[in-house]
Amino acid sequence: MNKPSILVARAIFPETVARLEQHFDVSSNQADALWDRATLIEKLRGKAGVFTTGGERIDAELLAACPELRICANMAVGYNNFDLAAMTAAGVLGTNTPDVLTETTADFGFALLLATARRLTESEHFLRAGQWNKWAFDMFAGAEVNGSTLGILGMGRIGQGIARRGAHGFGMNVIYHNRSRLDAATEADCKARYVDKATLLREADHLVLVLPYSPASHHAIGAAELAQMKPTATLVNVARGGIVDDAALAQALRERRIAAAGLDVFEGEPRVHPDLLTVPNVVLTPHIASATVRTRRAMADLAADNLIDFLTQGQAKTPLNPEAMAGARR
Ligand code: GLV
Repeated sequence: MNKPSILVARAIFPETVARLEQHFDVSSNQADALWDRATLIEKLRGKAGVFTTGGERIDAELLAACPELRICANMAVGYNNFDLAAMTAAGVLGTNTPDVLTETTADFGFALLLATARRLTESEHFLRAGQWNKWAFDMFAGAEVNGSTLGILGMGRIGQGIARRGAHGFGMNVIYHNRSRLDAATEADCKARYVDKATLLREADHLVLVLPYSPASHHAIGAAELAQMKPTATLVNVARGGIVDDAALAQALRERRIAAAGLDVFEGEPRVHPDLLTVPNVVLTPHIASATVRTRRAMADLAADNLIDFLTQGQAKTPLNPEAMAGARR
């Protein structure tokens, strides 16, 4: 019997490609070319599955052009590149990689918080530029982390991980806002108190964004929200670009209306708003919150498991639209 054909849309671990090749006729992009949409659609023709990495837009137009496609397996927990309603309507399964990246991403969120509050990269640039010639009482004096108030917007698994680190490791007073309030046991475990968004903005010394991107969360932090924050506050975004209005943030940072920001994600990335590149009080990283070797391997393994399980047995470990499995394309 012919093996199903699949496409791996970006470069991934060679071991993952080799594993997929045991089950599928694999077209892969190990050269990591950045395909435009027309090329992606062309490469997808006749494929039953695609291994995506979060940047490939899967929508009604693409699904109509690729009638053989049955599963899109994202190697990411976020799936805002999927039009899930269109996928369900077309009987195409979407999967993501939750859980395996939770603790690593929470580690990184906390690292970015610490780096931002304690001005890590700004002071390193100063030192590397040969400008450190004497001690000064106020040199790179930053914001206190221990004992301060940690605000979390979006209290899913990663938000909870950051809350635990803050509460248990740094004695922080944790407040959060989320679409729905957590149960009492989870709140107690995270030592977190539910507040409305206005209170969160007003009271947080360090505000961390960990909510999924959707049209509803577009510019959840814009000029109006930044204006409600303390002038001494820091803002960290490890969620998605587009949740923060980057132009408004750059202006707030320049005018010191908040103290500093740490950003791992950007509107329109990999482009970065040019104003963010010229303000000193921001720590910038290239969307690497889940990037440890172990975690990236676990993500790749889970995405591959989903492709293999679905195309060989009609099952998936982490389906996003399980209802699509019933009416799935054959
Ligand atoms: C990374 O951004 C992810 O969604 O996994």
